[in-house]
Amino acid sequence: MKIFHIVGARPNFMKVAPVLRALAGRSGVSQTLIHTGQHYDANMSDVFFQQLEIPVPDVNLEVGSGTHAKQTAEIMVRVEPILLEGKPDLVLVYGDVNSTVATALVCSKLGGRFGHVEAGLRSFDRTMPEEINRLVTDQLADLLFTPSEDGDINLRREGVRADKIHRVGNVMIDSLVKLLPAAQSKSKNGIPGRYALVTLHRPANVDEETALKGILESLLDVSRDLAVIFPAHPRTRQRIADFGLNTSQLRVLDPLPYLDFLGLQSRATVVITDSGGIQEETTYLGVPCLTMRENTERPITVSTGTNVLVGRDAKKLRSELTRVLAGKAKRGTVPPLWDGHAAERIADVVAGARSRADLQ
Ligand code: UD1
Repeated sequence: MKIFHIVGARPNFMKVAPVLRALAGRSGVSQTLIHTGQHYDANMSDVFFQQLEIPVPDVNLEVGSGTHAKQTAEIMVRVEPILLEGKPDLVLVYGDVNSTVATALVCSKLGGRFGHVEAGLRSFDRTMPEEINRLVTDQLADLLFTPSEDGDINLRREGVRADKIHRVGNVMIDSLVKLLPAAQSKSKNGIPGRYALVTLHRPANVDEETALKGILESLLDVSRDLAVIFPAHPRTRQRIADFGLNTSQLRVLDPLPYLDFLGLQSRATVVITDSGGIQEETTYLGVPCLTMRENTERPITVSTGTNVLVGRDAKKLRSELTRVLAGKAKRGTVPPLWDGHAAERIADVVAGARSRADLQ
């Protein structure tokens, strides 16, 4: 069976790594890895391939940045000939980025079969580009691999056939489980004993001056109690510069490699973020997470994990931080099937589908 994996952005890389590894051990499977080039800076891409031990992509489509329409269209135009020529039996796409939805559209219009890893997540907020990507991708997918029960429920509500849905658990946690020891053995030089670790990149938080200014003021307030370590996404760094905002009390860094970030995350007093994946990683690690969003497509991190949604409400952030500093942070449990073996379960499903007909 010929399988093509298509990835493009940083949060895809920790998801594809364990799936490539799990399928490499299955007989009769050949794999091709295609990078769309949606993320192209070395510290957003290459270093993740090295640390996650992902093979060099067979193809890099080098699409780069652009508006959503331009980026999505460019990926479609460049993916189509690769699929026409390569004729894979199955394409696998990951997460909810523009590379995911662009590939889903091309694949289904060519009549090809594709599977979506991390299917069924919903924020119910259609102002988020990722929600549109998730909805479209899941309507078109032939195999839907969900990380938790809420994913299955959402898909069934949207009319997806039950036999297409496979609850396999969380592949991103597979990478975490494998690499946590290496991450924790990284040097702690220069890292304070207690700190808040911050990431922000959602357009709703960083693209508008008043919103970003308000968030940075909240973070300056946090820095009165705790060191604030803030590895900034290129988009965020650019906006801070464009708006001339004050970050003097924050330790703003370039984006960090996977192991460095995971090590910092695992020892953080608290994580403040608007990322999706970090809500899951903190839940697994048992680290308090304050999410600067009004909603989440990962509700299990709130219902059973360590995550609290604080939106952009400075008072709520302050009161939750006070709870954390008083040792009264929410304690969570790890959701079922977040056990380091999700990719093996995907490989069981994929390798068990012997022909194209089986994938229908
Ligand atoms: C993308 C994903 C988002 C994911 C995030 C993780 C979509 C719709 N969004 O958002 O879901 O959480 O990745 O990082 O796919 N840039 C660089 N170098 C890079 C990549 C981007 O400088 O390697 C800058 C460019 O100015 C670019 C901007 O960041 O215009 C945004 O990049 P883009 O890939 O469009 O979206 P992200 O915000 O990274």
